[in-house]
Amino acid sequence: MSNYTFDIYLDLIENYLNNCIDKSSYEEEIVADAMRYSLQNGGKRIRPVLVLEFCRLCGENPEKALPFAAAIEMIHTYSLIHDDLPCMDDDDMRRGKPSCHKKFGEEYALLAGDALLTLAFETLTKADVSDLQKVEAVKALSLHAGYQGMIGGQTVDLMSENKIISLERLKTMDNLKTGKLINCAALLGCIAANADENKKIAAEKFTSAIGLAFQIVDDILDVTSTREKLGKPIGSDSEKNKSTYVSILGLDKSKEYAQELTTQSIDSLNCFGDDADFLKKLALKLLERDN
Ligand code: IPE
Ligand code: IPE
Ligand code: MG
Ligand code: MG
Ligand code: MG
Repeated sequence: MSNYTFDIYLDLIENYLNNCIDKSSYEEEIVADAMRYSLQNGGKRIRPVLVLEFCRLCGENPEKALPFAAAIEMIHTYSLIHDDLPCMDDDDMRRGKPSCHKKFGEEYALLAGDALLTLAFETLTKADVSDLQKVEAVKALSLHAGYQGMIGGQTVDLMSENKIISLERLKTMDNLKTGKLINCAALLGCIAANADENKKIAAEKFTSAIGLAFQIVDDILDVTSTREKLGKPIGSDSEKNKSTYVSILGLDKSKEYAQELTTQSIDSLNCFGDDADFLKKLALKLLERDN
């Protein structure tokens, strides 16, 4: 049985992230400030927790994977900064505070996102793993975050505004925009632990199911939650005529589907036996979350 709890992982992650952005070597601190503002003390940290737990589950000290965990949170944070920009979802609140561009201006929010993206790759290289593992991690992160991954999904999302799209296309969009980074989190944990192919396949199955469920719940909360609870605006999707699970399937069917995917995700962990209890509980917690 593992001694690592969600809170222990959170402490490790916050501590690491708080020390990732050095003072600039010149006077203008605004971009570094904007990066810290968005990265530190915010977010549920689901992706970095997945990195650490998969590393542990595959037999390695999870703390070894901390640079990988920080890197994926940087990519995720950059994606949120850009996602909130007026040319994207145009949202004014994120993680309970004004969005990065509301606080620092659009131009610096854009640069802070860019800088977090590049810092993520530098951070990966700091892990105490072999050069081969680092190369594998760089490749995994660029593929999952790029035009065939998260950016691809954001593109489909934008192109699907004001349209009714098929369920298949919606699934493709969500698997890309949200699923890919969640897949990548587990994969980075596996890479840090030098896990075998079977474990990587199980990790992908699990995260594909929770990744899709995660976006469905995000779409549901946009309708059913409050600004205070979520720490971001509600009703943002319908305001922009976004194609979401709720807009295409309705609330009840969306909830049922998220439930079904969560059950599937739990089943896919059987090869890990009792040692997968943390992940099984996490899958249920993500389904029932209210923020
Ligand atoms: C929000 O992600 C964007 C989606 C992919 C649904 P999270 O819900 O993980 O956001 P934070 O990191 O907790 O702020
Ligand atoms: C965001 O999806 C996905 C990415 C940022 C890659 P959403 O646009 O639904 O996320 P929120 O609701 O603004 O957090
Ligand atoms: Mg969006
Ligand atoms: Mg958004
Ligand atoms: Mg959303």
